Parts: sequence; C-alpha cells; structure tokens
Amino acid sequence: MYRYLAIVLMFLGSHVFAEPLSLSVKQIKKDLAADVVDIRVLELYESSADKAVEVTYAGIPLEKLLQYLYPKRWDGFDGEIYFHALDGYLSILDAEKARQGEAYMTFARADGKPFTIDNNNQNEKDVSLAPFYLVWDNLNDPLLLGSNAYAWPYQVYQTELVPEAIVQSLLPPNASATVEAGFDAFRNNCLGCHNINGFGGKKYGMDVRQVIKALSRQELYEWIDKPSAINKYTSMPPLAPVITGENRQRTINSIIDYLQAI
Ligand code: HEC
Repeated sequence: MYRYLAIVLMFLGSHVFAEPLSLSVKQIKKDLAADVVDIRVLELYESSADKAVEVTYAGIPLEKLLQYLYPKRWDGFDGEIYFHALDGYLSILDAEKARQGEAYMTFARADGKPFTIDNNNQNEKDVSLAPFYLVWDNLNDPLLLGSNAYAWPYQVYQTELVPEAIVQSLLPPNASATVEAGFDAFRNNCLGCHNINGFGGKKYGMDVRQVIKALSRQELYEWIDKPSAINKYTSMPPLAPVITGENRQRTINSIIDYLQAI
C-alpha cells in the first residue's frame, strides 16, 4: 500500500510535496533574533589529528529553524531533510537526527572574522561558507567527532523536506536485502552528487541510471573504489576511505546491485 502511494506521488510530480525552500539570512536573522546563539565547535575542515582548531559561530538551533520554516509540516515529520548547496552538492539528514538538538545552522563567525574556512582535505583556501553552514556540537558530544564532511554542508541556500514515502519510492519493489543495503549506501555516499529521477545532488546533472548504462560491473566496481585510477582528472572522490576491507567490497557490490536493480 505504502509502495503504491509512493508510486502515485512520483507520477503526480512529487515536487509538489517536496519543494526546495530558499533561505534568506536577512529574514531569518530578523524573525529568529531571539534564537540566535553562539556555538563553539571543533572545526571539522581545519582540524587534523595533530591540530585542533576551535571556532565559535553564530547560528540557530536546527530544530528551531525547521519549526520556523515548516510550521505545519515539521512536527511529526519523519522523512529526510535535504540541504542544497550553491555548488550543486546535496547533504541528506534524517529528521530523527535533526531532533536530537545537536545541529546548528550558522550564518557568521561570532568573532566577526570572514565567514570562510580552509578546506584542507581538498586543498582549498578561504572557501566561503555563506549563506549557511551546518555545524554540530562536537565539543559536547564526542560521538560527533567521528562525523564526516557529509554532515557539515556549507553554502547551504535551500532546504527541502522529503517524505519517507518518496524516499522509499527510490527503492525498487520487492528489493532483496542486498539491494536495500545498497540503497542505504547509495544515499549516504552517492546521492549527494548524483540524482535519480531528479532526486539528489546536481553536481553531475545526468540521471545516474543513464550514467551507468555504458559500464560493466567490473568497470563500475573500479570506478567507485578509485575513480582517479581510471581518470586522474576526475572530481569524483573514491568511496569513503574509512570503509575498508571486506566491508568495502560488500558495500561497493551492494551499491552496484542497487544501481542495476533500478
Ligand atoms: C562529490 C561528488 C560525487 C560523489 C559523492 C560521487 N560522485 Fe560519481 N561522479 C561525480 C562527477 C563530478 C562525475 C563526472 C565524471 C568526472 O568528473 O570524472 C561522476 C561520475 C560517475 C560515474 C560515471 C563514470 C563514467 O565512466 O562515466 C559513475 C558510474 C558514478 N559517478 C557513480 C557514483 C557512485 C556509485 C557514487 C557513490 C559511491 C558516486 N558516484 C559518488 C561526482 C560524485
């Protein structure tokens, strides 16, 4: 039943239900002035194993912002929040995680210095964070120290609430356990840049189902594992290096199973 509803939603044009909402710093600062707080974090992009960089940002607790943006929909909503970035990147967050009260949508540094960072992993200096940058209270919750850049999107200019039924519609009917695992891995590792039927990131415009057509299973595997081995100029990163060994093989294979199933 759920599945049918999802299919109907897709045909009706699901964007009616999940329209991106553009964020205005000026408006939000004005309407939520009472909710603006300073949040001190271990800056994810500038810290490394031997260098801890702490920065205090000015921002609004994410839940407060969502309540304000979606006064009717946020309460009881259980799907995903999409954060769209100016460069086409998409970061996806489970509503459940947003409710834990550890995320802040920031719009400035508290010390008045420029709202930029050095993204050391990508060798980029003075990257603009504006209009919005999502940070996590990792000084109070050590579990958050292990989070990756995926959860810290910057240049966020739009949010979108995507209902669970639409999320599930990206899963083929009667999916096997591997295909389901592949779907999860695809959402966590690929959907930020690639889209299926318009859902997902827009860094690479073409629907991923088109993209994979020309590739054999072996080629796909090598590409996901290490794109730079095939094309050294590619801007696609390899599957996260923290996924290693057998787990890496299993994850890549499940992503391929998922892609072939759709
Ligand atoms: C940070 C953005 C980003 C992420 C994350 C990403 N890709 Fe890509 N991907 C790209 C870009 C950009 C291209 C275009 C080709 C290029 O730049 O070399 C691409 C190309 C591809 C291609 C086409 C390769 C070819 O030979 O034409 C496939 C297949 C692909 N990606 C699959 C995936 C899968 C599966 C994942 C997740 C494991 C993933 N991508 C994650 C950005 C990304």
